[in-house]
Formats: sequence, C-alpha cells, structure tokens
Amino acid sequence: MKSFFCAIISLCMLPVCVSAQKIIIATDGVAIAYQPDAGKQLQQIYLGKKLSDSASYRNINASLDPAYATGGATYLNEPALQVKHADGNMSLVLNYVSYETKNESPNVVLTDIKLKDPAYPFYVTLHYKAYKTQNIIETWTTISHTEKADVVLNRYASAFINIKSPQNYLTHFYGEYNYEMQMHKFQLPPGIFSIQSKLGVRTACNYNPSFLVSPNNDATETSGEVFAGSLAYSGNFDIQFESLQLNIDMGNSLKIIPGINAYASSYSLKPNENFDTPHFIFTYSVAGEGQISRNFHNWAINYGIWNGHQKRQTLLNNWEATYFNFNQDTLVNLFDGAKKLGVDMFLLDDGWFANKYPRNDSRAGLGDWEANKKKLPGGIGYLVKEATAKGLNFGIWIEPEMVNPKSELYEKHPEWILKAPNRPEHLYRTQLVLDLTNPVVQDYVFGVIDNLMKESPAISYMKWDCNRSMDNAYSPYLGKNQDAMYVRYAAGYYKVLDRIRAKYPKLDMMLCASGGGRVEYGALKYFQEFWPSDNTYPEDRIKIQWGYSYFYPALTVCAHVTAAGSEPLKYKLDVAMSCKLGFDVMVKKMSEREIALSHTVTDNYRRLQDVINYGELYRLVSPYKTNFASLMYVDNAKRKAVVFAYNLESLEADTYPELKLNGLDPNKKYKVTEINLNTGARPQFRENGQVFSGETLMEQGLKWYLKSAKTSSVLELEEI
Ligand code: DGJ
Repeated sequence: MKSFFCAIISLCMLPVCVSAQKIIIATDGVAIAYQPDAGKQLQQIYLGKKLSDSASYRNINASLDPAYATGGATYLNEPALQVKHADGNMSLVLNYVSYETKNESPNVVLTDIKLKDPAYPFYVTLHYKAYKTQNIIETWTTISHTEKADVVLNRYASAFINIKSPQNYLTHFYGEYNYEMQMHKFQLPPGIFSIQSKLGVRTACNYNPSFLVSPNNDATETSGEVFAGSLAYSGNFDIQFESLQLNIDMGNSLKIIPGINAYASSYSLKPNENFDTPHFIFTYSVAGEGQISRNFHNWAINYGIWNGHQKRQTLLNNWEATYFNFNQDTLVNLFDGAKKLGVDMFLLDDGWFANKYPRNDSRAGLGDWEANKKKLPGGIGYLVKEATAKGLNFGIWIEPEMVNPKSELYEKHPEWILKAPNRPEHLYRTQLVLDLTNPVVQDYVFGVIDNLMKESPAISYMKWDCNRSMDNAYSPYLGKNQDAMYVRYAAGYYKVLDRIRAKYPKLDMMLCASGGGRVEYGALKYFQEFWPSDNTYPEDRIKIQWGYSYFYPALTVCAHVTAAGSEPLKYKLDVAMSCKLGFDVMVKKMSEREIALSHTVTDNYRRLQDVINYGELYRLVSPYKTNFASLMYVDNAKRKAVVFAYNLESLEADTYPELKLNGLDPNKKYKVTEINLNTGARPQFRENGQVFSGETLMEQGLKWYLKSAKTSSVLELEEI
C-alpha cells in the first residue's frame, strides 16, 4: 500500500502530472469535484457543500468513486456506460484527456471534461452546467467515436454520482393513474434499487424520475443533508441506486446512475455521430428537503420550463363539466360561466373533432382533427371569436400522437402506427400510438398544432394529452432496426416540440398524460404547466400536490376545482389556489353564493399570483405525517406571504399541529388577514387582523383553529 501512494506522489511531481489536476464544478453553495488518478481514470473526489478553495478538496477515496464507470474492464459493479466496439470488444476504458470551462452568463458556467479510450478512437465528454444562485448542477454526456463501423451502446447513463455514507435514505415518488406522486421514504439496503419505466410513452405514470437521498441521517424539511436529482427525459428511464458495502475503512458507497433505460434499447452509434444523453439535474443542501425544493423551483422558473416568467392564465375547462356531451351552444353558455368566475380563459377539452367517426366517446375519431360539424357548425373559429368577444382567451385539447382504429387516419395510414407484426393489436382506451420515429408522422403531428394555429391564430393555449403507454410496440418505419425504437420515439417527440416552440413561442401549453404521466423536465422544457392528476378530490389532491412540490414549482401544477368530492366549495378552492388555479365546473349548477366565493378566490389568486407562483415555498405541516397540511409562499423581498392550512380529518385537540411559519424576515412586522371567506363568514383564525413580528410567527407560530374535518384557511401576510 505504501509503495502505491509513493508512486502517486512521485508521479505528481512530474511536470506533466495528470493526477494533480482537480476539476471543481461549483455553484454558490454546492460543489462536485473530480481528479484523475495515477492510472488516468477520472475520480469523483467530492460532492457536497462548496468548500473555500481548491486545496480543500482532497482525494480520500483513492480509486473507488469513478466519475463515469465503464463496463467490461476492471469496474465490476453497475457501470454508466457499456459498449461493444466495432471489432466486437465489449470492454471500455476511459482515460482523462482535458477539461475546459466557459461562462455562459454571469450565473451559468459550463464545464466539459473529455475522456478517451486509450486503445480505441472512442470519446466521451462529461458536461456540467453550474447554475450559481440556484445551486443546481445539470449534467449530461456526449458519446462519439471514429471506429470503422458502428459501436453498439448497450448501457449509456447520463451520469454516475458517488455518495459516501454508511446509510442512505431514499425518497421517491410512485403512483398510477389517479394517484400520482405518492411519496415513499426508506433506508436503502445493500444491492440495487431502481426507479424506472418501460412504458415507452407516458413514462412518468408509475414513477417520477426524481428522488431525494439523505446520506447518514434521515433529513427533515428544515434540517439535514440531502442530495436530490431529476432526470429530464420523456422516454423509458432508469435511475439505479447501487449501495455497495466496501471495506471497513471506506465504508459504504452509494452509486446513483440515472439515464435512459437500457431495456430493449441498444443504440448503434455511427462513426462521427454524437449521442447526447438526457440531462440530469441535481442539487444538494445541508438545510433539509425544503431548500432542495426551493433550488429546483428557482431553476425551473428561470431555466427549466418554457416561458417560466409568462403569467399563468386562470381558466375554466369543460372536461369534468360536460365530458363528451356538448355542442356549440353549451360551450358558449360556459363562456358566460367563465366570466362569472372571473377567469382568463376557456379551455375546450376532448370531443370537439372528427366527422366520419365523430368523437362522441373515447372509441372513435382520434386522429381526425377537424371540428365536428354537427356539434360545432361554426367550427373552432366561431368559438374563438365568441370567446374573444366576451373577453376570454381560448384554449383547446389535442392528443396528436394517438389514433383510434375507428378513424380516417387509421384507414389511410395503417403504416403510421406502432404495432408488432404477428401480434394482435392491443388497444388501451380504444387507441394506438403513432410511430413518431417516422419523420412523416412527425410532420403530421406538427401539422395538427400548426393547422389549428393557422386557422385560428388567436388560440392562446393547448392541452396536449397522451392517454396510453406502448405495448406490442414495433415501428414499421424502423423495420428490422427496432433496437432503439423507444429512444427514437422520444427523439421524434422532441423534434416535433422543437418545431412547435420555434414557430409558436408564446403559445401556452399544458402537459397532460391521463394526468401526471408525463411530468418531468425533458418535456417541461417545452410546456409551462401540467395536469397533475385526474383525481381532483381535495384530500387526495393535497397529497398529490404535496408530492409534486418537491421538484415542480406551484405555477406548473394546474389545480382545478371540480364537482368531485362532497367537501365544501371553500375547501376545494383553498386547495386549488395553492397551485395554479382553474375550474372544471358547470357554473349554471352553482348557487350565487358559490359563484361569488369562486370569483373572490379568483381575484385573490390574481392579486397574490406573484407570491404563489414566484415566491419561495415552505412546507409546514405534512399530510403524509399528520391529518393536517399546511404550506406557505413568501415573496423574494419577504414583504408578502400566503399561508394555506387544511384539516383533512378532524382530530382531538392535543394532536393539532403547531403552525410555525417559515421564510419570513424575523425583524419585519406582518399583518395577518384571513382571506377566501364566504360573504358574511367569520374568519377561523382569531389572529385575523393582528400584527406580529416575523420572529414571533416563526418561533411561536399561530394557533391552529381548524377543528373540524374538511376545513381550511388561507392567510395573507403583509409587511406593515
Ligand atoms: C385525460 C385527461 O387527464 C383529462 O383531463 C381529459 O383531458 C381526458 N383525458 C380527455 O380525454
């Protein structure tokens, strides 16, 4: 052992000393550091709080934490990259070559680290974008070669992250249709645990590609060490957590390997072709899970989602109000309802299209994007005109990647559909998936949006739905080259979205896949908000929205008040207002009192929208740990805040939670006002109208007054 270290030291003294080179990627508060070892293998030597200078980053783990582990050579655990070279050699070695950094802006620094196989013209570049003030690092990998024939990529992860700690707690978000984003936290056992999708499309349906890891001790909302990451990818993904028991000196090491799912996805890389992996976004905090969320939200608004700073529109959607059962008059009446609620926009959902096979339920018409003449004799143009005349914006639902067998599109283009030869068509919601690997189909999908916009340029919003996953999937376009079909589908989806965004940068788009089946940052790069779940029961929504809040800011989470659940309307409104407010109701069935309250809440939302949409989130009382929930948003200047409090189930007085606020300025004085009250109703919080210092509100808190089940309060705080 002694001679080994001597060898390193003597190597370091040589003028060309690769092992001395430290590469530090740092934000204002977080750093990850790399250094080549004596064998030129790049090692991760640090991940955590940013240290004061480069000398402080010390390689204490020798060669156990590869920066990007490769398969088939000497690393025998799960690798990041495993390939078959053109000559059939299945091993890969990557030596450090060089690195460079570039300031993309005062806040963003890009670092590229170049690696190469010493025996093959095979190259890897690890990219890291450090967002200084957000404390976010975005990383991805470019793979290329100039071998004589294709190299097959069998496994090609986006990153390889090493975490050193004796034990690690993982929080991930699982679910299914109607129960998205349920949180689950547990201590990782030795071995491999993975969150992944093989669904092909709508891939976030069962697991969101996001997670938190607390090394050492279980972190809380406000304390402890947390690493968190999210893979920005709309295709099959796989995030592996391999907990290795190393020797007694080294302790355990957790390897986190996020990337495209290798399942049925070998990729033949041509000479001189660049393969860019999906981007993996991560952050780290020593101040608990709340800070992780605030870092992600800040990054998302400024860099991660489309038009993060465009003001969100409140809306009335007709889906849960009418389902497929509407006509022109019903819709125009709903416009009047939208005006009564005070919202900005009317969103027309499924059921407006197809003539030969009218879309009167989910069994027909998908693919035939022409307004149904019987239901809508004036076409979409008439509806847009009527809405505009009433001072409303107009939005429309589409599901352009899908087709019903009962459609003209299916009759004309059976070759545009993903379906395996010699297998029966497997329908789900009576529909099939179009073959987006095919450029002609990409043109068609782009055309669905483009034609609507050309015909009615005043359309201001589209809800892009996706109601099934892939099975028996085979691309007629790719023929015998099916190996990377899933990967090429996702690439086709992005190509279409690139074109849409280039042509329609201002169009608002909602990401929907039977609810939250597509929520991840690969797609959100093109969308500004998403439909989190078809489940709009307020109690369930509190938990679902809570789950999303870990990674996705409130302005992306559409929350609509619907008829679901017997809870009081106020409770539903207070739940919806904590994200992006909307309605899915039949206004004519509402009482005057209910309409008045809804209008009040819409007005309050608009008045406080900047605080809720762009303020910092503090989760106060978790519905996963209690029968209550509370969260608050504080604006950046700490002058305004909005607190949401819910009693999901009535409990005995001694279990009422403490309502200690957070994120305020201790030295400022805030007036507390309860809002969203029915006309004539008394505030529930007796502190209503009183003034407290930020310190009092954070250290002593407010008394919990919500004593009955399904009650809620919204408090507005303003500095005086
Ligand atoms: C599923 C979505 O989640 C719903 O909101 C609605 O748009 C339906 N699809 C329409 O088919």
